[in-house]
Amino acid sequence: MLLDSEPPPFASFSELERDALACRKCALAPGRTQVVFGVGDPSADLLFVGEGPGEQEDIQGIPFVGRAGQLLTRLIEGIGLARDDVYIANVVKCRPPGNRDPLPAEIEACSPYLEAQLRFIDPAVVVTLGNFATKLLLDTKEGITKLRGREFPFRGHATLIPTFHPSAVLRNGGPALAQARADFVLVKRVLARRRASA
Ligand code: URA
Ligand code: SF4
Repeated sequence: MLLDSEPPPFASFSELERDALACRKCALAPGRTQVVFGVGDPSADLLFVGEGPGEQEDIQGIPFVGRAGQLLTRLIEGIGLARDDVYIANVVKCRPPGNRDPLPAEIEACSPYLEAQLRFIDPAVVVTLGNFATKLLLDTKEGITKLRGREFPFRGHATLIPTFHPSAVLRNGGPALAQARADFVLVKRVLARRRASA
């Protein structure tokens, strides 16, 4: 965690993006096609955090555009929002080879970018998609099955809601999809509450 008295490491969101797009700080740099920084509205009140780019994301440079991404898009639209209304980012910005899990050293090397995105976007609600984002942002070892669908106070004034990663929903089908939908309904409710009190 940065101390409030420290100067921000990036002067602006566009400088942050420019730095990230040129980053070679970890072992994922050589295997990527391009850095997948994030997409959406940098002043959104809802931020989604996934794990890392897959094959399609690596090719297109945009998070969540493959099969899991199409499901995420449908879940977002299911609560009356569009991708343009939210911001979508990942724990690691470069595709792990063969879609393997990101390693602790890679997550640590990349985390300043996610931290800076959190600071600039300053969302009211953060939705972590799956174990990697949830463990990183909640600083917990507890698994997603226990944590999903609950509200956690986050960094003073935000609410964090963990849900399943859309890839896991695709793998596990029916009941997982129903739980993901229920989690998104909670997201909608918390957003409405936050907007009413803003
Ligand atoms: N899975 C992720 O975690 N992020 C993406 O951007 C795509 C798939
Ligand atoms: Fe840099 Fe993150 Fe890509 Fe590693 S994953 S090279 S830290 S942008």
